[in-house]
Order: sequence, then structure tokens, then C-alpha cells
Amino acid sequence: EPLCRSGVWRFSELLPFAPPEKIVTIGEGQTPLIATDGVAKYVGTNPGTLFLEYEGMNPSGSFKDNGMTAAFTHAHMIGAKRAACASTGNTSASLALYCCSSKLMQAVIFIGSGKISYGKLSQALDYGALTIQIAGDFDDAMLRVQQVSKELGIYLVNSVNPFRLEGQKTIMFRVLESLDWQIPDWIVVPGGNLGNSSAFGKAFHELHALGLIDRIPRLAVINAAGANTLNSLYNDNGLRWNGGRPDQAIINKYYAGLDAASSKADTIASAIEINRPVNLMKCLRALDWCDGVVREVTDQQMLDAKAQVGANGFGCEPASAASVAGAKLLREQGVIAPSDRVVCILTGHQLKDPTATIAYHTTDQEEFNRVLGKRGVSRAAFANR
Ligand code: F0G
Repeated sequence: EPLCRSGVWRFSELLPFAPPEKIVTIGEGQTPLIATDGVAKYVGTNPGTLFLEYEGMNPSGSFKDNGMTAAFTHAHMIGAKRAACASTGNTSASLALYCCSSKLMQAVIFIGSGKISYGKLSQALDYGALTIQIAGDFDDAMLRVQQVSKELGIYLVNSVNPFRLEGQKTIMFRVLESLDWQIPDWIVVPGGNLGNSSAFGKAFHELHALGLIDRIPRLAVINAAGANTLNSLYNDNGLRWNGGRPDQAIINKYYAGLDAASSKADTIASAIEINRPVNLMKCLRALDWCDGVVREVTDQQMLDAKAQVGANGFGCEPASAASVAGAKLLREQGVIAPSDRVVCILTGHQLKDPTATIAYHTTDQEEFNRVLGKRGVSRAAFANR
């Protein structure tokens, strides 16, 4: 009976690893796909063509629950008692929620210092996760949690975990279902650790191989300009999947350059403030399967897009708005046509990260400077709308 309430497990034939009695669900994946002409106008596509997949409506407020129910179920299958992740906040909130509602495991979370929004941190604390702040950023926390979980035998639920991606495939199943299986032209998704984009590619590849769809939508992965490893590798360095043999030298050289410059990711979209995406390879494969494109957008472009999403009756956090900002950019560049049907994924709820939103709209110059001052953001675009 609980399976009926899950927007993930009702597709269990397409993620066939879990015996029904082991499945841990909290009713994730009941998320709407909504057409919005206000946002279509902003992006520059025709009325009726722009859809928002509202993943902020999940129980923990982000798309992470789609993958967490799958990874958590697998952890339960193998008898894990503790589960860990590094997080910019949403993975940790999701893990903490599955742990405390199921009482099956203790959550152990690693966060970078000062790198998590209060909304997300407060979730982990309320849900009773063991919360460890490390000196460093997400990339450092990711390294640390991989070492610690290996040494201590703690189950790791970051999206290096393949079961996470199995669950996240269902976001695309639901998008297609909502569109009556009329394949859209574009799926536009923010790129951080690149789990979603990898999972979406796998979803379409499998649906196509099974003969359930005859065309694969194009995938657009959108980085923040301040955390643009994928965009740099893909567009500036020509890195491609290349039949499973991407040029490792390009990747090594890029990361060596980051190390040499002690370069850290830096964006207002803290959710995707990641320089070393763990799913880089899988994402390259997804881009290959889906005739994909990669772009980066500035903090200004994300915050402007976010305000438009809000003004049209939806909410999302800054990182999520990368999808809408990216769609607008691709439309301006003529890559997306006015008649194309475009699905933008809103990955996290508006209330997750109110600090940037308030700073963007405030008339208090001090508050504006504190949060956005060094980011070259102005309010003009929204004020003149
Ligand atoms: N959007 C939001 C709201 C996120 O929280 C994340 C990732 C992404 C997009 C990027 O997704 O990794 O699949 O490319 N947040 C992770 C976390 C890193 O720890 O919560 P991705």
C-alpha cells in the first residue's frame, strides 16, 4: 500500500533492485509539472511551451528525495545502521529525514564551513542528524566523507551511489507521463555534482532501448559561472564521452590548474557551489546519449530568473533558477527555438535559502551589500520588469 503513494516506486519495474518489503518511502516524488506562460515569455518561447517540474514539492523540499528513497532502501537491504553524505544542504536534509522518519539508521552529515543555507541546516538539526562542519568547502567535505565512510564502514548516500541515480530517473518518467508521453524538445537542469543530468540521460537511454519512446529530448546542463567545471571542460576544452574514452589528460590538466591556483567554487547558488563533480563521467555519457549542451549562467542571471519564477507564482532556490536562466540564454543564442517545448527542473524549494532572495529584493543597502555586494549583482532587471 505505501508504494502507491510514492512517485518513485510506482515505477519499480524500471528500478528493479528492491524487494517490496524492504522499500523505505515517505511519499516522495508527488511533484507537479506546470506550464507557465509568464516564464515562457521571460525565456522567449511561445505560449504553452514552457514547463516547470516542481521538485521543491518533495517531503524534504528538494529533488533529492527521489534518489534518497532508493539509496536508503538499498542501505536497509544490506543492513546498514549508519548513513553518511557530504552536502551543500539538500542531500543532508533528505538523508536526515529518511533516517528520523524510518528510525532505521543514524544520519552523519559533512558540511563545508559557512557553506550551507540556514533553511537546509535547520532541517538536518531538527531531524537529528549528527552534523559535522569541516574546515573547507563542499569539494573538501566530499573527499572527507568518502574516506571516513570507507574506514568506518558507513553507508555513503552521495550521488556516487548508483542507487541514488536509479531513483532520480523517475523525475523524467513523471515528466513524460505528465506530457502524455509527447516527448519535449529540451530538458534543462542545473548541474552541480551532476547526478540529475546523469540520471536523466540513463532514464531516456533505457526508455528508448525498451522501445517506450522513439525520440530522446535534448539535455541542457547549466552550471553556475562560479562553479563551472563541466562548462569549461565541455565547451572550452572540448571534452567528450568519446565512446567511453574521454580524454583523461584534459581532466587532469584542468584539476591541476584548479589546485595550482587554489581555486574554489564561488556562487550565490550554494547548492551547486561544486568544482569537482563526482558524476562527471556519467554526465558526459548522458550528454552523448541526449545530444546535450552545457552552459554557465551568472549569479545575476540566476537571481533575475528566480525572481521571474517567483513573480509567476512558483518558488525555487537560486541554484534551481539556473535551469530557467539557462533556457533563456539558449533561446537568445538561437539553440532553443521559439516553438520548442522546454522543461526546466526546479530542483529545490524557495524557502530553502531565503537569504539571497531577501537581499535581492531589499531596499536596505547594507543588507544588499552584505549578501550580494561582492557579486556584481544589481536589482535593476527585476525592478524594471
Ligand atoms: N539544485 C539543488 C537545489 C541542489 O541541492 C543540487 C545539489 C543541485 C541542483 C545539483 O544537482 O548534483 O545532481 O547536479 N545539491 C547537492 C547537495 C550537492 O549536497 O544537496 P546535481
